[in-house]
Amino acid sequence: MAYSEKVIDHYENPRNVGSMDKNDPSVATGMVGAPACGDVMKLQLKISDAGIIEDAKFKTYGCGSAIASSSLVTEWVKGKSIDEAGQIKNTAIAEELALPPVKIHCSILAEDAIKAAIEDYQSKHSK
Ligand code: FES
Ligand code: FES
Repeated sequence: MAYSEKVIDHYENPRNVGSMDKNDPSVATGMVGAPACGDVMKLQLKISDAGIIEDAKFKTYGCGSAIASSSLVTEWVKGKSIDEAGQIKNTAIAEELALPPVKIHCSILAEDAIKAAIEDYQSKHSK
């Protein structure tokens, strides 16, 4: 399968790989798995008191498209509010990376990871 140039760029130079302290109250963690292939993606967001995403890190165990999708969303979410980040659609990720149909689930994983991180943040802050 031929990867697009953007996928290869993110795969070779992934942005924001790493971890943050998940016990930090300002850090939200979203961990999701893709039933279609078993790949796992962890996305962490550092969120200000005003609800703005100040930093993002990811670790993905998966294919090039999954790594590229998570790398891309760490760039996209920075500076956004959690509401704006929650509106990022997998279709936009797939379009930006020119993913072929069999790789669409990799972009869904990234969308799900954002949503899972936001849910984690909300559950941490609803107490
Ligand atoms: Fe998951 Fe691609 S099948 S690594
Ligand atoms: Fe499964 Fe990419 S996340 S093949």
